[in-house]
Amino acid sequence: MATALCPGSFDPVTNGHLDIIERTARYFDEVIVAVIRNPQKTEAMFTLDEREEMLRELTSHLENVRILSFAGLLVDFAHEHGADAIVKGLRAVSDFDYELQMAQMNQNLSGIDTFFISTNPKYSFLASSLVREVARFGGDVSSMVPPVVMKRLAERFDELKG
Ligand code: PNS
Repeated sequence: MATALCPGSFDPVTNGHLDIIERTARYFDEVIVAVIRNPQKTEAMFTLDEREEMLRELTSHLENVRILSFAGLLVDFAHEHGADAIVKGLRAVSDFDYELQMAQMNQNLSGIDTFFISTNPKYSFLASSLVREVARFGGDVSSMVPPVVMKRLAERFDELKG
């Protein structure tokens, strides 16, 4: 049985992430979406529980997908769960340098290989950080995230406004 890991911060999950998860689920027996507990890039907008909850709801139609969280090295988590591969989406050439470096580091640390899926061009500009920013200023993100995420974003910004 082949198991793939789709890791990320998912703060929040976007249509681009969901496209990669769905396509990965076609090629592997099992997909573990590995949600990092403490994203380093920014202070997370959504708690780990919230990020996991949204992912669970949005992948509930995919029987071979599980949502788990991790802290520490991704390759350690991969070993603990018997994962055979890491799968990531590549949006543009600008993703490539860093993704290649991480893939090579992970391969070197553990022997685990990373497979890249080309992002659907309609999502190639999408990033959670941009979605947060657009939503913060009232922009329309309805083509970028599912309705459940839009609702959460709106609620979060209402809370922040007080
Ligand atoms: O959605 P993101 O924030 O781009 O995801 C980045 C993530 C979580 C995939 C990456 O930061 C990661 O794998 N972190 C775990 C720590 C680790 O293993 N670092 C070494 C990578 S070479």
